[in-house]
Amino acid sequence: MARILVTGGTGYIGSHTVVELMQQGYDVVIVDNLSNSNAEVLNGIEAIVGRKPDFENADCTNYVEMERIFNTYQPIDGVIHFAASKAVGESVEQPLMYYRNNIGSLLTLLEIMHVFPTKNLVFSSSCTVYGQPDAEHLPVDENAPLKKALSPYGNTKKINEDIIQDAAYADATLNATILRYFNPIGAHPSALIGELPNGVPNNLLPFVTQTAAGIRQELKVFGNDYNTPDGSCIRDYIYVVDLAKAHVKAIERMLNVPEREQVEIFNLGTGRGLSVLEIVNGFEKATGVRVPYTIVGRREGDIEQVWAAPQKANNILGWSAQTPIEDVLRSAWNWEKHLRNLS
Ligand code: NAD
Ligand code: WQD
Repeated sequence: MARILVTGGTGYIGSHTVVELMQQGYDVVIVDNLSNSNAEVLNGIEAIVGRKPDFENADCTNYVEMERIFNTYQPIDGVIHFAASKAVGESVEQPLMYYRNNIGSLLTLLEIMHVFPTKNLVFSSSCTVYGQPDAEHLPVDENAPLKKALSPYGNTKKINEDIIQDAAYADATLNATILRYFNPIGAHPSALIGELPNGVPNNLLPFVTQTAAGIRQELKVFGNDYNTPDGSCIRDYIYVVDLAKAHVKAIERMLNVPEREQVEIFNLGTGRGLSVLEIVNGFEKATGVRVPYTIVGRREGDIEQVWAAPQKANNILGWSAQTPIEDVLRSAWNWEKHLRNLS
């Protein structure tokens, strides 16, 4: 079976993807410097799958280390590149660190892939590249114009997409799949792996589950005066396990469909927008647990509404988001309970 190198594989989306890859029989080598994850995730993966992936504690920006890893594990049939720093606010405060880590790690990988026989790259991009799409581009498809990034983090995604396009143009043997994720949420149904936010969560779902667990007093809903049906912002919340499965589809396509385009781009979302208040109400309904909240002012830099047109991924990757939102919200709660030893 093919071997896939997964950078950032002990992280949130990476760990779920490693599980799906291994369950489909792939051999997996994880490269992660544990800057935003924990080696215990490997035990969670082993408990779910029944075997451990290979693991290298290394920094993807380090050419010498990455070269050693590529030499050790040949043949490597594909790379899924999750490793990146991803906190939007932190990126505004430490832009150089974000540019060095997120762009440096991709450059290193591409330089190494240029000299090794490994030619298939899957890259984690984000719907952040679309900014606030104009009304005629909602739901947003892959041809919608890209907008100026609102943060250095967002800019690294745009720049990395450009770097991949340029590298592929110059090297006809390089294949890439760029996946633009919408808002990943939830945890594995086993509750053995999930999201591990650092400190006070910025993202909605971890804040909701921590409030439900009593760790936070109340959720602040950032604005109810947007031009949306209930006034709160709308996003396309995509279940992390569904998202993980899309990566397996992307790898399968790269390995088995030679007539694909050299660089393909897919939106990964459900195609359905949900408001902040719909998420909060849905969570209460799905779990029976109350989430106290207050409405506060808008958060700077927030986009009013965005959701995906996922038809390209549906038709070409043969993938679609399958899991009902109630199950997704319940999975997030079960993970929070597992983390806090709540029954
Ligand atoms: P995460 O922080 O949980 O996982 C990223 C992993 O990469 C972590 O385990 C971290 O330790 C590792 N890492 C970071 N820099 C590294 C380096 N230089 N060398 C080796 N390892 C390194 O984040 P995630 O939510 O799983 O995100 C995965 C990818 O998806 C990222 O590229 C992120 O930008 C992208 N993405 C995430 C979201 C989201 O909302 N979670 C949305 C769109 C895109
Ligand atoms: C969702 C909605 C908030 C917290 C961010 C990044 C983006 C992408 C995904 C990686 C918004 C509201 C939130 C809270 C709230 N990441 N909210 N109270 O802003 O869509 O995107 O994560 O690429 O780049 O910017 O996600 O989870 O922060 O917010 O009301 O305490 O929940 O205003 O409408 P966002 P989010």
